[in-house]
Amino acid sequence: LAPMLVAIDGPVGAGKSTVARAVAQRLGFTYLDTGAMYRCVALAAIEDEAADHVRDVAVLHIDFEGDRVLLDHSEVTEAIRAPEVSRRSSQVAADPHVREALVDRQRKLTERGDWVAEGRDIGTVVRPDAELKVFLTASDEERAARRAAQTGRGLEQELADLRERDLRDRTREASPLRRAEDAVELDTTGLAFEQVVERIAALVAEVR
Ligand code: C5P
Repeated sequence: LAPMLVAIDGPVGAGKSTVARAVAQRLGFTYLDTGAMYRCVALAAIEDEAADHVRDVAVLHIDFEGDRVLLDHSEVTEAIRAPEVSRRSSQVAADPHVREALVDRQRKLTERGDWVAEGRDIGTVVRPDAELKVFLTASDEERAARRAAQTGRGLEQELADLRERDLRDRTREASPLRRAEDAVELDTTGLAFEQVVERIAALVAEVR
């Protein structure tokens, strides 16, 4: 079989990470969480402010070891999920210099083998040549409820945060979040996670 890339894009809390990870596991593909890379840049920016020095994105080491994320060789798997880092990540992600550096790495990483890559611009910018593109959505309320269940924060807080982040992601000049014309849109509102995984696996089987 020829190498294959499945691109999964969509707004905050549509279930991209959980679904992409499960699809990858089921198909034996490698999973790439590009959001984690933007989160690493955000964490580095926060740390650098506190330390009064600045690392260039080009020299940051971002590594994945299974489910663990390493920034400059330190584990940041948990640290990059902090609400402060989420907010900051959508700010640094609007910087064309940051995007260029990360997109370049994402292309190199996914050059060989079979991948499920997840983010905001995989199907539109990083790998418009992806064999399958899925755009995952869900209602604002459901997305906020899913996040609140993960973070333990209030529903209203999550709703406000995700709307702010989505707006920034959709309206930025550099690679805004949008559905690629040839992406299959999948509204996951009211669907069980297994149903979504099943549907994507079926789409993969169709294009392979
Ligand atoms: O997916 P996740 O919520 O972890 O991504 C964090 C932030 O990184 C997003 O809000 C978005 O601003 C940015 N991002 C991006 N392009 C990607 C992945 C994430 O701009 N491919």
